[in-house]
Amino acid sequence: MKSQAKITAFGTYVPERRLTNEDLQKMVDTSDEWIVQRTGMKERRIAAENESTSTLAIKAVEDLVKRSSLYLEDVDCIIVATTTAEYALPSVACRVQEYFNIPHTAAFDLSAACAGFTYGLHVANGLVSSGAHQKVLVIGAEAMSKVIDYEDRATCILFGDGAGAMVVEREEENPGFFGSHLETEGAGGIHLYRTIIGETMNGVELQSNGKMVQNGREVYKWAVRSVPKGIEQLLLKAGMNKTDVDWFVPHSANLRIIESICERSGLSLERSLTSVEYMGNTSSASIPLALDNGIKEGKVENGDLLLLYGFGGGLTQCGVLVRWDL
Ligand code: UT7
Repeated sequence: MKSQAKITAFGTYVPERRLTNEDLQKMVDTSDEWIVQRTGMKERRIAAENESTSTLAIKAVEDLVKRSSLYLEDVDCIIVATTTAEYALPSVACRVQEYFNIPHTAAFDLSAACAGFTYGLHVANGLVSSGAHQKVLVIGAEAMSKVIDYEDRATCILFGDGAGAMVVEREEENPGFFGSHLETEGAGGIHLYRTIIGETMNGVELQSNGKMVQNGREVYKWAVRSVPKGIEQLLLKAGMNKTDVDWFVPHSANLRIIESICERSGLSLERSLTSVEYMGNTSSASIPLALDNGIKEGKVENGDLLLLYGFGGGLTQCGVLVRWDL
């Protein structure tokens, strides 16, 4: 289906509190040197006690409104990509609808972990291009700190909190979506999970404490093996070349993963945008936060072609090619 949609507004939010590598050294047996060498991370933002995934999402939408002077009244679908919703129900999307009092809208959460934001854009493009919806609010919001075991040194050093939001609207003349590529490897789900009710997966007993559990090495190997192939497929489907891409915005999981993906896929690290150094891995929020870094540093210009690529728990991945033109 030919796209008839484009991104028309953008905003982000990160909490005030910083958790530095030095802070982590006081909490677990780790070092600044180890963290920087293995991940490139220096600090992350941590939600306050009274902040939740919903409040982070709302703040990102407030920033979007401020930056675009866009009216939310006629938003007719809200999609929140998150794995850290404070309630199983109602959804974070319903909390956002309530806060902004958006009168006539669908609202649902989307569970695709770190690929959630690009999944949201893919779904929004489909809904708008088909004519089913006119104006879709896509949010990636995560309060990862609320589900991290701060005694597990291999995991707690990675994650941070934040949110990003975009609006996708009907655009027939000059659409801004050029292709998507999605893949799923459910067999790898056991390498990155958080239990809600389930206690076993494929007969294997899970650590059912409600905290994030990760086999980092396996996720790392999967990401650097499969994401470059996915990028190749995405460019092929869109009839584009890697030299057409102005900015590569991968999920900010780990700087070493990004370096390896760039090397294997022939994309330039210098033309990549990340949020990993000062925000850590913010799951579904990491791509909008990285893009915002690029915008605030004056790198991203209107007309630029962006390759946004999310990957993570599921295991799942989703890449989208979009023109930045706000
Ligand atoms: O959002 C998508 C989901 N997540 C990811 O993308 C994460 C992907 N994985 C990773 O980023 C990396 O696997 C990690 C950064 C999590 C770990 O790096 P690694 O190079 O794969 O380390 P490892 O797990 O193989 O552990 C190597 C050593 C171990 O010690 P021994 O057994 O060699 O003595 C660990 O116990 O490093 C040790 N270690 C640490 N040492 C200091 C693990 N965590 C730490 C730590 N500080 N924080």
